[in-house]
Amino acid sequence: MFLFFAGLFLIIAILYILVPPFFGPPSVPTRHERIRKALQLADLQPDEVLYDLGAGDGRVLVIAAKEFGAQAVGVEIGPVQCAVSWGKALWNKISSKVRVEARNFYHADLSNADVVFAYLTSDQAGRLQEKLKRELKSGARVVTVAFNFPDWEHTSLDRENLIFLYKK
Ligand SMILES: C[S@@+](CC[C@H](N)C(=O)[O-])C[C@H]1O[C@@H](n2cnc3c(N)ncnc32)[C@H](O)[C@@H]1O
Repeated sequence: MFLFFAGLFLIIAILYILVPPFFGPPSVPTRHERIRKALQLADLQPDEVLYDLGAGDGRVLVIAAKEFGAQAVGVEIGPVQCAVSWGKALWNKISSKVRVEARNFYHADLSNADVVFAYLTSDQAGRLQEKLKRELKSGARVVTVAFNFPDWEHTSLDRENLIFLYKK
């Protein structure tokens, strides 16, 4: 019995660590305070739709739904990360305000997003920028943590936390 659970734990840990680097950065979470700063910079309003591209352990979704009253959608490729995000939404009793899509975010439909949050790498910036410019509605905001877009002038910048704000 012990060996079964130890093996299961090992498989889950390996999936958690190994799946994300196939698609982009490893699953490194953003600090909670930095998330709050980013959502404030984006001026996220109650009932607006927030997308986190690469939702990781779901912490952005929880803060957006619980503290800002937003409808939060996470798009995440890692199966374990998705399960953790779903679990956190249930635990925090906000599952009616949170949706997690287990998929590659390049294939997600972002047309109803009011705010997009992304903590990724510069390698992903070019392709993502094109998708956002193509799909986002007019007035939508994008906040990027630790990376910026090559050909999109940011509207505002939090230098201390390295958070960029873009407006469509
Ligand atoms: C640096 S972590 C950020 C997690 C979370 N957004 C946060 O700020 O705490 C990036 C996440 O993006 C996910 N990811 C990377 N490329 C992806 C893709 N193309 N589609 C969906 N998820 C992706 C990874 O699995 C990882 O969990």
